[in-house]
Amino acid sequence: MSKIFVLGAGAMAESFIKGVLQKHVVSPSDITVINRNRPERLNELRRDYGIRPAESIADAEDSEVIIVSVKPYDVRDALKELSPFLHGQTLISFAAGIPIAFMDRVVEGRAQVIRTMPNVPVAVLEGAIAMAVSERVGADQLERAKQLLRQIGTVVELDEELMDAATAFSGSGPGFVSYFLEAMEQAAVELGFSATMARQLLIQTVVGTAKVLEEWRLSPTDLRERVTSPNGTTHAGLAVLNESGMREAILEALTQAAKRSREMGEEYTSE
Ligand SMILES: NC(=O)c1ccc[n+]([C@@H]2O[C@H](COP(=O)([O-])OP(=O)(O)OC[C@H]3O[C@@H](n4cnc5c(N)ncnc54)[C@H](OP(=O)(O)O)[C@@H]3O)[C@@H](O)[C@H]2O)c1
Repeated sequence: MSKIFVLGAGAMAESFIKGVLQKHVVSPSDITVINRNRPERLNELRRDYGIRPAESIADAEDSEVIIVSVKPYDVRDALKELSPFLHGQTLISFAAGIPIAFMDRVVEGRAQVIRTMPNVPVAVLEGAIAMAVSERVGADQLERAKQLLRQIGTVVELDEELMDAATAFSGSGPGFVSYFLEAMEQAAVELGFSATMARQLLIQTVVGTAKVLEEWRLSPTDLRERVTSPNGTTHAGLAVLNESGMREAILEALTQAAKRSREMGEEYTSE
């Protein structure tokens, strides 16, 4: 596999590094990481994963793949610094809301830009990764980028106009799912469970439900109908959720999250 230069050393960069190293597709010495001003963080990543802290941004020159894992508001400055060291490498951005055309402009076309929206489960090789590419990206480079990202999750290629929705849906998804689970756990404790018991049952319920959906190729509607007997317990609980307006709230939450992704893109890319 290629040499990878990771721009940014935060939570998402670590999830990515952890994921690809678990699959042994890249060796730690082929991953170089840079951040802005926290050498202790780079040392921590070296200690935990064996990666190479970059000496300077110029180290990007030797890499075939560059991962952009800085906050959306830092993308412009980071890419400006990177730009002199680009010569056609594949640049995979994780930044929410930042359009391909903007990144192309900042690097003056010197990289093949792929915009992705991964999520935190990439760290355990279970990521959901939405990806959009411009026509400028070569077929070989696209295939190699997909191969790399497939090591850490499921990759879905879509039109760039759907990326803000993907940011809301799968990018922020772990946060939304955790919110629901948090409420389930709190309710279980109210019903008399210890926090430990509640957590064990909760996690297994989620993992098991996801596996059933995947392995039996069921839609969530199919599974919900299968487990809901007329007048049974699930039926009684779902009646409350239906009346609570939960579906509308979920739609509104995703709509607002997608809007925020769009706004961030506009905010951080305006000239
Ligand atoms: N976290 C998530 O769940 C998630 C999910 C999907 C996508 N993303 C995307 O992933 C990206 C990173 O998010 P994060 O949560 O990992 O952020 P984070 O923890 O705040 O890390 C950002 C990193 O960028 C570095 N940085 C900033 N400007 C830089 C520059 N000019 N040159 C080099 N390094 C620079 C920072 O270095 P210093 O610490 O030295 O300042 C820091 O290491 C974001 O664009 C976000 O939209 C995140």
